[in-house]
Amino acid sequence: MISAADLRTLSDTIMARLPGATTAAAVDALEAEALGPDAPVTAARRSLRDAPDAVRRELGQAVNEVTGRISVAARERRLALAAAERDTRLDEEWLDMSLPGRAPARGKAHLVSTVWDEVVDIFVALGYTVAAGPEVETAYYNFDALNTPPTHPSRLESDTLYVAHGDDPEGVLLRTHTSPVQARYMETHRPPVYMVVPGRVYRRDAIDATHTPVFHQLEGLAVDDAITFGDLKGTLEHFARTFFGSRRRVRFLPHFFPFTEPSAELHVDCFACEGSGCRVCRESGWIELLGCGMVDPNVFVAVGYDPAVVSGFAFGVGIDRLAMIRYGVPELRMFFDPDLRILRQFR
Ligand code: DAH
Repeated sequence: MISAADLRTLSDTIMARLPGATTAAAVDALEAEALGPDAPVTAARRSLRDAPDAVRRELGQAVNEVTGRISVAARERRLALAAAERDTRLDEEWLDMSLPGRAPARGKAHLVSTVWDEVVDIFVALGYTVAAGPEVETAYYNFDALNTPPTHPSRLESDTLYVAHGDDPEGVLLRTHTSPVQARYMETHRPPVYMVVPGRVYRRDAIDATHTPVFHQLEGLAVDDAITFGDLKGTLEHFARTFFGSRRRVRFLPHFFPFTEPSAELHVDCFACEGSGCRVCRESGWIELLGCGMVDPNVFVAVGYDPAVVSGFAFGVGIDRLAMIRYGVPELRMFFDPDLRILRQFR
């Protein structure tokens, strides 16, 4: 029969060999050498029932002691092995996240959007409101309310893109300028009015260096009780100098628009050659910038304003054109070209 001393010796041996068990399976096997179904400790426990009283007490104590010691040590060994295995994996499977990542491609505003914002900001700084109107417009707002006679050539199908809607084939169109928003705005607002309208406009133009069927304009309108042509000149000179530089000079040439009387064309002296003549200004020293004028009384009547009480000025400037002039972009159609080599050159 196994003695208590044998069990303790066995226990010491197992304990001594445990550090050499380097896998969970090896630990299990070693533990089973003492505590398995046919192993000495189990056999001793089984023999207790028939053992003499004197032996049972001491042997029973040894069985409990050895069982506890080995099973606790085996469990600790298994935990230690699992922890070591985890450490090894953490060492092997680490990912270096400390390097700067590859920066995602970041977009930026299109040159036309940049100029759009800049021009709007110039007028917002003067206290102007930003308004908007529909791009699909009625002939009434695009032409009639703006004092444009039914026979005006700009109404021709060769110039205007009409939309098939309703009975009148020329009743609905893609707006050819931002001017209709003047009429819409005045119909819904009492004077004083100081507003600008940036927006897309459409014309039936074949694409070439200076024409695209869609482009961008900024409309401006100021209506108050004593607006004069002097206000128009001062405001637009301020705009030209803010956009092209404080040394710029401007000149106003007589022109004609149905919705303004008198009408003018604003020219700015060439920022590239200081007016001496170069390719930018086509050797003239001057660059044509925009159309403007004093709001025609007929427009006021159309929107329900009394031309005897109010006066105002209006202007319309091509946003793409401003961008082309200032950045030396040779062709309007480049703005509608998705080639990133073109777009990346700006800012
Ligand atoms: N609507 C004109 C165009 O598209 C530009 C324009 C000229 C607008 C004079 C105005 C203006 O408000 O007063 O060519």
